Amino acid sequence: MDYVNFLDFIKNRRTIRRFKPDPIPDDYVEKIIEAARWAPSGFNMQPWEFVVIKDKTLRDSIVQWVREYHKLTLKAESTREPWQRVPHLPSKDPEMDYRIAPVFILVLGDTRTLKGLPISMRYDAERRQSIYISSLAGAYLYMSLAATTLGLANEWVSSVAVAYAHCMTKDLLGIPPELEIYDMMALGYPAYNLTSRKLMRDKEKMIHHDYCGVDDFRTDTEVDDFIKRARIWTTANHRRGVDKNIVGVSEGI
Ligand SMILES: Cc1cc2nc3c(=O)[nH]c(=O)nc-3n(C[C@H](O)[C@H](O)[C@H](O)COP(=O)(O)O)c2cc1C
Repeated sequence: MDYVNFLDFIKNRRTIRRFKPDPIPDDYVEKIIEAARWAPSGFNMQPWEFVVIKDKTLRDSIVQWVREYHKLTLKAESTREPWQRVPHLPSKDPEMDYRIAPVFILVLGDTRTLKGLPISMRYDAERRQSIYISSLAGAYLYMSLAATTLGLANEWVSSVAVAYAHCMTKDLLGIPPELEIYDMMALGYPAYNLTSRKLMRDKEKMIHHDYCGVDDFRTDTEVDDFIKRARIWTTANHRRGVDKNIVGVSEGI
C-alpha cells in the first residue's frame, strides 16, 4: 500500500455510532482480532485478551450498567466550568445507538504480564501503567482499522471500563481478578453513511522542530477555543444525527 492509499484508509476510519441489528459473520470478528494480535506492545508482552459477546441478554446487561453510570455523569456535567458546557439534547434516534450493535468485543488486559516489563518499570507504577495501557490502545486501534476494511461500523464504549460497569461486567462474565477490562468495541453494520467532516487541528500548529519555547505552542486561549469547538463537535456526533451546522469543521470526511 502506498502512502496516499494509506492516508485515505486512515481517514476512512471514523467512529460510527448507529448500527444495523443484522448479525455480522463470525470470520469478520476473527479477522478483526487477528489484526489486533499484530499490534506492537511494550516488551512484546501482548497483554491482551478478547471477549466476543453476541448473547443479547449479556449485551443488554452491560448496556444497562453503562446507562446507569451515564445518568450520574450527566449530573456531574452540570458542575463543569460554564464556558465548556454544551447543552444536553436527547439523541435524535435513541433506538439506533451501540445497544443495537450485534457484537461487543471486550479488550482485556492481563495484569500478570506487567511483571515481564523491564525491572526498572516494574517499580515505576506510572510508567508501567502507561506502557501497558498504550499496548492495549494499539491493539484496539488495529481492531478499529480492521473493522473499517470490512465495512463495519465500530464505537469505542469506554464507559464500560469505569469501576461500576467494570466490576459488574467482570462478575457477569466470570472474568478472573487478574484480568481487567481495558475497553469495549461495539461492532456492526453502519446504519448510515458518514458524511460529517472531522474537526481537525491545524497541522502547522502541532509540528515543532528542534528547540521549542512557549511561542511555538498554542496559547491558552487557542487551547480553550479548540476545547469548545471539540466539545460541540463531539456532543453533536454523540447525538448520532449528522448535524450540518457543526461549527469549526475543517477537514476530511
Ligand atoms: C480512548 C478513547 C475513548 C473513547 N471513548 C468513547 C466512548 O466512550 N464513546 C464514544 O462514543 N466514543 C468514544 N471514543 C471515540 C471518540 O469520541 C472519537 O474517536 C473522536 O470523537 C474522533 O472521532 P473519529 O473516531 O470519528 O475520528 C473514544 C476514543 C478514544 C481514543
